[in-house]
Amino acid sequence: MARACRFVIFGATGHLARTKLLPALYRLEAAGRLPVDFSVVCFGRRPYDNESWRGMAVEALQARYGNRMDIDALERFAERLEYFRGDLADADSYRRLQAAISADAVFYLAVKSAEFPVVTQNLAAAGLADESQGWRRLVVEKPFGRDLDSADGLNRLLHSHFREEQIFRIDHYLGKETVQNVFVFRFANLIWEPLWNRNYIDHVQITHGELAGVEGRADFYDNTGALRDMVQSHLLQLLTLVAMEPPAAMDAESVRDEKVKVLKSIRPIAESEAASCAYRAQYAAAQGMPGFLEEPGVAAGSVTETYAALRLHIDNWRWRGVPFYIRTGKRMAANSALIAVRFKQPPQQLFQSTGVGREPNWLLMGIQPEQCLRAEVQVREPGLKLTTRHSQLDAGTCGCAAYHLEAYEALLLDVIEGDHSLFLRYDEVMWAWRVIEPVLRAWGRERGCIDTYAAGTWGPEDSRRLFEGEGRFWRNSLAD
Ligand code: BG6
Repeated sequence: MARACRFVIFGATGHLARTKLLPALYRLEAAGRLPVDFSVVCFGRRPYDNESWRGMAVEALQARYGNRMDIDALERFAERLEYFRGDLADADSYRRLQAAISADAVFYLAVKSAEFPVVTQNLAAAGLADESQGWRRLVVEKPFGRDLDSADGLNRLLHSHFREEQIFRIDHYLGKETVQNVFVFRFANLIWEPLWNRNYIDHVQITHGELAGVEGRADFYDNTGALRDMVQSHLLQLLTLVAMEPPAAMDAESVRDEKVKVLKSIRPIAESEAASCAYRAQYAAAQGMPGFLEEPGVAAGSVTETYAALRLHIDNWRWRGVPFYIRTGKRMAANSALIAVRFKQPPQQLFQSTGVGREPNWLLMGIQPEQCLRAEVQVREPGLKLTTRHSQLDAGTCGCAAYHLEAYEALLLDVIEGDHSLFLRYDEVMWAWRVIEPVLRAWGRERGCIDTYAAGTWGPEDSRRLFEGEGRFWRNSLAD
């Protein structure tokens, strides 16, 4: 007989559950990937009952998917939804939950990080971490702490109630199609591997730009900033995938061991060097868009960065001497997440090129909005003169595939199936904090003022100084 599984969402009425988790679970239903006896227990304080909650969820899904909706799947999915009225801080709510669950169970913490301790402690006190009635898995969203110390404290707390194998620290970037494709591209092909090192690669850029500003999250964001929000998590994860050695196998421990080795090899930034290898700025009003300081909820005179850029070095055999530039910004000129690998110049320039700035070779991995793997190469310009121009080799984009994966979809299925490969191990999180901690400290001390950039642009010109005037330039998007 199929095992029963309960997927409990704490914070079910919140933004994450509404916009990511319920849609992802519905899509797994439509793809026929949910276990037979599976229900989604939505834990919240608001006074819904099953019927009103299902109605609300169905409406939200219909609004999201419109005519792409699979009506049969939606009906089946609605049947699986249960509303559980409870209070995160009330031990009795968890005892009731315990009595209602005698199956395998996922506990998804879609709540503020300040509430992780109370939920974890209450779960454990009610016996919900105990696996005698079925496996119990805890999913923890970022931010995982706000610095090395708090992340360590949180790890200790989780480990005092749950075993590491029960904990799934989620980073939704690892569920994105192109991000997973980086593994395949690197380790299912032989042609790149001989070039994938300091002998042939000049530098690597990882960019994440967003059109949106803080979008109603001013309170969280003003206390967090771009470095903590995006760099410590998503962008360092992307860096590890680009830089890691081939794992012994694709199992979780082998993959995570290799990622940790990369993080450990990142040259520590001395606090005194922060000014030369890290750059921060804040968006200012432009093109009819408010500046960060005008956003409702942002503290007067705040110097929180909405743009952060770093130059990192990985001091290992493969990468020594190859800079990795990573940057992220809100209210930039476009939505663009891109990994750009620039190769070195050929040893001799035999031809004239018409594509100034495009030579020699770039490899672009578009994560969003367009998903693609694209190599930029030089070809002969047709005509009487022997000149070259740049051209593109496109490795069939994921975007045109029949199935378009949403990041949370893949990750939630992994939780249900118990696969940790795309989740962060505690030491990964700690090493990632270790990388940015000196910059956090340096920026924390300089609270006087911050550079600005006009909203709707690619950020401050001054961030180019990270390139140390070596003829390098930012690749912003696939289109530039
Ligand atoms: C989140 C950050 O983790 O990632 C947000 O908290 C950011 O500030 C978001 O907007 C970006 O994710 P995506 O998938 O939209 O690129």
